[in-house]
Amino acid sequence: MSSKDNKAHLHRRTLLKRSAAVMLAGTGLGTLATFASNGHRKTSAVPFGADLGDAPFGFGVRKDAHSLTADSDDVRMYRDAVGWMKARSLENPLDPQGWAQHWAHHSIFCATNTFQYQVHYGWYFLPWHRAYLVNLEQKIRRILNEPTFALPYWDWTRNPTIPSWYFGENNPLNNTTRLQTAEDVLPADFLEVGPSLRAVKWHHFGGRPRIPGDLQVEGTLEQSVHNCVHNWIGGEMASFDGAGNDPVFQSHHGQVDRLWEAWRAQGGRFEPEEYEWQNHEFWFYGPNGLIETTRVGDTLDTERMGYRFDDLSYEHTLTPENTPVYDGSGVELGKLEPGSKELADIELVARGDGPGRVSLNYERMLLPMHPFHHRLFFLDEDGGATFVGTFTILPIPDLRRGLERRVTTQVEVPPQALDALLKSRRVRVVGVPVALKGRNIPVQPIPFTGVSLTVEA
Ligand code: C2O
Repeated sequence: MSSKDNKAHLHRRTLLKRSAAVMLAGTGLGTLATFASNGHRKTSAVPFGADLGDAPFGFGVRKDAHSLTADSDDVRMYRDAVGWMKARSLENPLDPQGWAQHWAHHSIFCATNTFQYQVHYGWYFLPWHRAYLVNLEQKIRRILNEPTFALPYWDWTRNPTIPSWYFGENNPLNNTTRLQTAEDVLPADFLEVGPSLRAVKWHHFGGRPRIPGDLQVEGTLEQSVHNCVHNWIGGEMASFDGAGNDPVFQSHHGQVDRLWEAWRAQGGRFEPEEYEWQNHEFWFYGPNGLIETTRVGDTLDTERMGYRFDDLSYEHTLTPENTPVYDGSGVELGKLEPGSKELADIELVARGDGPGRVSLNYERMLLPMHPFHHRLFFLDEDGGATFVGTFTILPIPDLRRGLERRVTTQVEVPPQALDALLKSRRVRVVGVPVALKGRNIPVQPIPFTGVSLTVEA
């Protein structure tokens, strides 16, 4: 053991000891021993408070949810374990090994305006959710004593419907608040990953640093596909407090996590080097019910986290045929009139001469009370309209008290929209609210300071 390892080890020991003192009542084991739906008796493999050591338990290959059925091993195990955890929470809602506590953990870090806790709207989004999924995967492996269990991911670029095994009466994986069924199809523009995966810089892909007093900028992956799918599913998935209670969350985030791997696999793309990112620590209730910490820099190697994906490929969903068409409605958000220097830079990007990115920024918006889901268009002076992109901002409650509440979105201006901008040199930016099944979301724009354009090499 190197002295560095040793120090980390000792540090972890202290944390474990300290956490034992604040532990909430641990209930006895074995009360819900016969939960397995395959008829086999299953017991919790982890005595409460056991020291599990530092290494992740087991190793699993995460598979595409649509390639599995209700009888596949990973689905059956997932269902059994969630059922076990839910039953455990019925006995004691505060049980750190129960489902309610796992759900609450997401709410603490996601439905909060407390700057130090919030892990959305910025650069901790991807590593926090990676660690959250691993935490559940580890719990499930221990609960069932199944070291190869892996959480299935939902590749919505290929299969834009919720996997059917997430539905059904008495199915612990069901959530009755969803507004979509297994037959409803996600719109193609909600799922286009091009703008995220083309990003070369982390602050475009995964978000900007979160500095107290400064604005927060979501990464493209978070605010586009990630937020759009949450909002489309509706019900608890469309709110930060509720999302962790819907088991489909894990498969959605499995895909988001997989896209992070796909992004790095392109090469030439790097996570932040900053100390504040690399050494930031998250805490979770471990499989033994005690608090564990995860350092952001240690989340980068999934093999070390105990899993890998069966495959990293995806599809582009947007085609000329299904690209949204401007219907004349919506609100004008601002005008763009790039100067000649900017136009020259935009031309370079449009020609594909070297790396570069043009972003449309929706500056410093007040977090909305309802999900804010917009399609953006450029309108030129002759009334021609070009689709730019679709994004969602998810609300957090407690709007009036937070430390930081202004968020800036960054939407990549895709090639066709760059051409439109170069041609007319002056465009109006229009946002069209997206109507979703089962919801009546107010259409008025939320307070923000305006739109702007940034061109970066
Ligand atoms: Cu913490 Cu997909 O949200």
